Amino acid sequence: MREIVSETEYDARPIGVFDSGFGGASLLRNALKELPTERFIYYGDNANAPYGDKTEEEILFLAQNAAEFLLHKGVKALVVACNTATSAAIKALRQRLDVPVVSVEPAIKPACEREGDGKVLMLATVATTKLARYRALQARMPDPGRVINVGCSGLVERIEAGVTGDGAFDDILAEKLGGFEGMKVDSIVLGCTHFVFIAPAIRRWALDHFKGECRLVDGNAATARQLGRVLKREGIEARGVPEEPRVRFFTSGDANACRPIFDMLMEIPIYE
Ligand code: DGL
Repeated sequence: MREIVSETEYDARPIGVFDSGFGGASLLRNALKELPTERFIYYGDNANAPYGDKTEEEILFLAQNAAEFLLHKGVKALVVACNTATSAAIKALRQRLDVPVVSVEPAIKPACEREGDGKVLMLATVATTKLARYRALQARMPDPGRVINVGCSGLVERIEAGVTGDGAFDDILAEKLGGFEGMKVDSIVLGCTHFVFIAPAIRRWALDHFKGECRLVDGNAATARQLGRVLKREGIEARGVPEEPRVRFFTSGDANACRPIFDMLMEIPIYE
């Protein structure tokens, strides 16, 4: 049940953020910066990652479980920090939950709005590239044929193991992207929140193998801004100095193994 908050009051309840694993921590970092008065509960469904190789029904089921977990913690809003879960489950989540739901999706719009005669390479999970919601988004672009979708399975598993270094993904990138050698690429859309953590590795590989600017784009900052607008619209913003800790981490996996990787990913430099 949503509490009624008058204009002069504020709502100190936390915001729930979930992903199949650690990827959503990249979005959480944007949200922490964008909304300095808010507190967050992060749920990583690490025991079930990756979502990207699962069926739509499986992803829907897991996303609903993750949302339920966070609602039981008393969150005032939910952030789906997983492009794959957005594609499979956002409609059902919005219908079933009585808190506002904000979600990330592949940022092909800003990439396609930039002029250029090169391609927009959209890297995501296999599920995202196939699901109807993403396909419909692509069809709404002025030139849908400019976007090349590549399902990059294998990357998420390595990031889940705490690997992020440049060079550590060259084998998978060569396997998935080698067929486009020499192509002119204006933008590369990181359509999976995990990939944001390996942006330097992706960009270096791309600059070695493609022509064009290969500018990286992701949907995290826009989603964090959207969250701020939704909190305002609903009258559920927090004000003042938030209680510490600002982030509480929960996982369906082994907390002792996952916590240090989460902490590391919350600190490592990302490309911005
Ligand atoms: N991080 C997620 C995304 O944005 C999903 C990765 C996965 O579990 O396959 O798509």
